[in-house]
Amino acid sequence: MISETIDGIVLRCIEETTCADDMQKINVIKVKYLGKNGEITSVLKSIKDATPEERPKIGKLVNDAREKVELALSKRENEIKEQIKKDKLISESLDVTLSKKRTETGGLNPLSIIKNDILDIFIGMGFEVKDGPEIEFEYYNFTALNIPKDHPSRNSSDTFYISDDLLLRTQTSAVQVHVMKTQKPPIRIVCPGKVYRPDDDATHSPMFQQIEGLVIDKRVTLSDLKSILDEFAKSFFSASTKVRFRPSHFPFTEPSVEVDLSCNKCGGAGCNLCKRTGWIELLGAGVVHPNVLIECGLDPNEYKGIAFGIGVERAAMIKFGVHDMRLLFDNDIRILKQFR
Ligand code: DAH
Repeated sequence: MISETIDGIVLRCIEETTCADDMQKINVIKVKYLGKNGEITSVLKSIKDATPEERPKIGKLVNDAREKVELALSKRENEIKEQIKKDKLISESLDVTLSKKRTETGGLNPLSIIKNDILDIFIGMGFEVKDGPEIEFEYYNFTALNIPKDHPSRNSSDTFYISDDLLLRTQTSAVQVHVMKTQKPPIRIVCPGKVYRPDDDATHSPMFQQIEGLVIDKRVTLSDLKSILDEFAKSFFSASTKVRFRPSHFPFTEPSVEVDLSCNKCGGAGCNLCKRTGWIELLGAGVVHPNVLIECGLDPNEYKGIAFGIGVERAAMIKFGVHDMRLLFDNDIRILKQFR
């Protein structure tokens, strides 16, 4: 009987459909049963051998069979698509609570850290930051600062000359002159910048940085200088740091002093950092020489000045306990990282 044959085909087809677990298998089943030469289609083709009465019956049987098979196939197809979606969601899921890979971040060079620290302290005391040129006239670097024509610092063994009257500044003190000539007192400035001298060893570099300080007002004295530097030393090193003035000589200050700080490593008891003296020399300073004031157009009877010059590399070496300045210039990440 044809209806039994058809039922058998449908049953087999549904069974195979239920077992199919991917779209490729579903397509194979579609071709096998519903394709041009498919099993159900072949039953329909047999209609031509049937009697006219049987024909509509066969037609209906085939149509019903088709419907059942198509329904089963599309149901399974949806199930498979759903499963594919679920698998994809699982395989592509992100754990948003996972911590990400650490990325390396840069940092300031220890010399920049120290320079900024020093500037911050003076800014806190009301000082203004001023710049000046690194290529300077010898007039600003030497002459206006009362440095005599025959002073050894003017020799080409101590100064990089570009021409007879043009040089790489050897000190940020030159910025003092620019400011005094252009700005009316009261003046209270710090001038950071690079300076150049033909020196190269563990404690000297042909390029280094200084911070010049200058105060000009009607009544400023050596004791103001002492209290400013005392305040600076306590902020920069520690509250117990002491400041000591020793007589010295600079052509642009009178009196001139060399400023020592009690050793921040041993507290003054004596150690290798302070060479067993308990003191560390940090900077030069003094009361601005009247000749400098006059050269800059200020009346020494009306105005007084105090000035100081701090070496940034030296301050960094003392603060960080580094014995070779070149380590701070070498850009060795392993070393620079330690000062963050
Ligand atoms: N310019 C000096 C130097 O390079 C440092 C210095 C000393 C600056 C005394 C000053 C000062 O302003 O008063 O060694």
